[in-house]
Amino acid sequence: MQIFGVDIGGSGIKGAPVDLDRGDLAQERHKVLTPQPATPDGVAGCVVEVVRHFGWEGPVGLTFPGVVTGGITRTAANMDKAWIGVDTAALLSRRLDGQPVTVLNDADAAGVAEMTYGAGRGRGGTVLLLTLGTGIGSALFTDGRLVPNTELGHLELKGHDAETRASVKAKEDGDLTWERWAHRVQRYLAHVEMLFSPDLFIIGGGVSRKPEKFLPLIEGIRAEIVPAKLQNNAGIVGAAMAARGTPPA
Ligand code: BGC
Repeated sequence: MQIFGVDIGGSGIKGAPVDLDRGDLAQERHKVLTPQPATPDGVAGCVVEVVRHFGWEGPVGLTFPGVVTGGITRTAANMDKAWIGVDTAALLSRRLDGQPVTVLNDADAAGVAEMTYGAGRGRGGTVLLLTLGTGIGSALFTDGRLVPNTELGHLELKGHDAETRASVKAKEDGDLTWERWAHRVQRYLAHVEMLFSPDLFIIGGGVSRKPEKFLPLIEGIRAEIVPAKLQNNAGIVGAAMAARGTPPA
């Protein structure tokens, strides 16, 4: 069975039909640059372009980098503030000629995909997926069930919003070495571990492609730490799963 998934990010909007039997993209994904400013109208136009690129007719799942409840986007830490309070599911459904659209948080989408097809497959207990990218996203699972919209990237770390210290953007902006950045990630993980005592951390985002650069530098964390497996496609796959009405993992 195929469903369309779209992942909205700060730099790109990418999507593809997803083969839900395999948990993988059915065709090579199509990506367009996120317009600046990333307003609801501009981004909606890009989502339509990505969906139309494949001539897709049918349900569409969509990730958003902020809190989403009942199809409404509630926060927009790294997006245009005009998103706050928008019924994004209804907006996109209108722009896609009435096709049903399901919207969920980007890290939650990556999490459900990893729990079903990737690094969290078959794992019970408390599992936390953290995506390290422009911001830090989180997806919390207890015995395979998602607790949505946990937003652990905004925990306070040494008086700062954690994602401004330990995201990949923080590494790039501060021109940090892998060692210095890994040290910050370690401090962040220790704080999250103190709060949730997870059995497993799954580290997602672009850096999950280079785990050897930083995971060996992280010490003193009790939980097992593994890189995500679906890497950049986890959001698209998780979005499609949500649109099928799949109960999270
Ligand atoms: C947002 C989260 C999002 C994360 C990753 C954070 O700034 O608040 O909702 O999951 O970035 O995109």
